[in-house]
Amino acid sequence: MKIALGSDHGGYELKEILKKYLDEKGIEYTDYGTNSTESVDYPEFGQKVAEAVKSKECDRGIVCCGTGIGISISANKVPGIRCALCNDCYSARMSREHNNANVLALGARVLGRDLAIEIVDVWLKTEFQAGRHERRVNKISEIENKYVI
Ligand code: RB5
Repeated sequence: MKIALGSDHGGYELKEILKKYLDEKGIEYTDYGTNSTESVDYPEFGQKVAEAVKSKECDRGIVCCGTGIGISISANKVPGIRCALCNDCYSARMSREHNNANVLALGARVLGRDLAIEIVDVWLKTEFQAGRHERRVNKISEIENKYVI
């Protein structure tokens, strides 16, 4: 599995921590920036990661900003992206089992390092349950398709 990673300045340090974790696990990733704690705008990085997942350059994405909110909203503007902001392990598991989330958003100023890693770990290993959930996820796509020009 190849992961697209992205953050703004608020999420930069967490992204670097996650890179070390992915290296240790032998999980491939592409880092779409940002590359320092210098102030940047989160929509750019949410969009880059979302587009990498949409184009199938990467299988899934992980985005980080201060709260995880702005970058998740941005990623969700790309059609086909289901970005879930999860600051706990239960939500992370459910976002995969029920919602087939293809991008995970984390709040770097909300989470401690260890919890962030646990969330990523759960999210990466949990599969979509499909069944009745597939119908609901398809309905999300139907809403999206109505507005895609
Ligand atoms: C940047 O200060 C901060 O607004 C950003 O990281 C994020 O929390 C936005 O949602």
